[in-house]
Amino acid sequence: HNVSDMRAALLRWYDEQGRTLPWRVRPEDRAAGVVPDPYAIWLSEVMSQQTTLAHATPYWRAFLEAFPSVVDLADANRDVVLSMWAGLGYYARARNLHKCAGVVRDDHLGIFPTDEKTLLTLPGIGPYTAATIAAICADEATNIVDGNVERVISRTYAFETPLPKGRKALRDLSGTLVRADRPGDYGQALMDLGATICSPKNPTCLLCPWREFCVAHSQSEETKYPVKVKK
Ligand code: ADE
Repeated sequence: HNVSDMRAALLRWYDEQGRTLPWRVRPEDRAAGVVPDPYAIWLSEVMSQQTTLAHATPYWRAFLEAFPSVVDLADANRDVVLSMWAGLGYYARARNLHKCAGVVRDDHLGIFPTDEKTLLTLPGIGPYTAATIAAICADEATNIVDGNVERVISRTYAFETPLPKGRKALRDLSGTLVRADRPGDYGQALMDLGATICSPKNPTCLLCPWREFCVAHSQSEETKYPVKVKK
């Protein structure tokens, strides 16, 4: 497993094949100096934890239209926010969303933080969301791990310890691939790979940029991973 070869292959694939999402700043735009708005990225990440990206997208547009800034969201009536959330599920998330906006307004001068450590102090922001915002918006070399990334990494390394017990070690393994170069693109590339090619049931390994590195693939055992404790 040559880390720099793996990263180069994945980033090349992302530059050519990564998904275009409405909130995503594509590598070519980022190179031209476009900076993502952490508030918009935060909204997209909290919403898409709930559901598919396709289902979340109209909600994301509606929220940004109604509340263009985090202070607008904080100043909004909570019941209005909750009613706009209807259809996304888990109202606790919407309550936390509103609460978080209030904390950013009151304790952070209305400026959405972009460093992982500060993000982790905000209501409703857990390790995944903090790592993702910091990488995308501040080029912080964080370890972004969601369910898709767990699947990609466990297959690539034929990671045998069943989840949930092995989760911490799997995350640490994923972290050994993180570098300071393009951390936001790298993390999103891994998530895209898991969401498209390295799918749970019928992965299309023929198209995978990591095919030559993947131990599970070399053993034709892709779908054995991630190993989970039997329920
Ligand atoms: N799923 C949720 N957020 C994502 C992102 N930023 N990139 C790829 N997949 C995602």
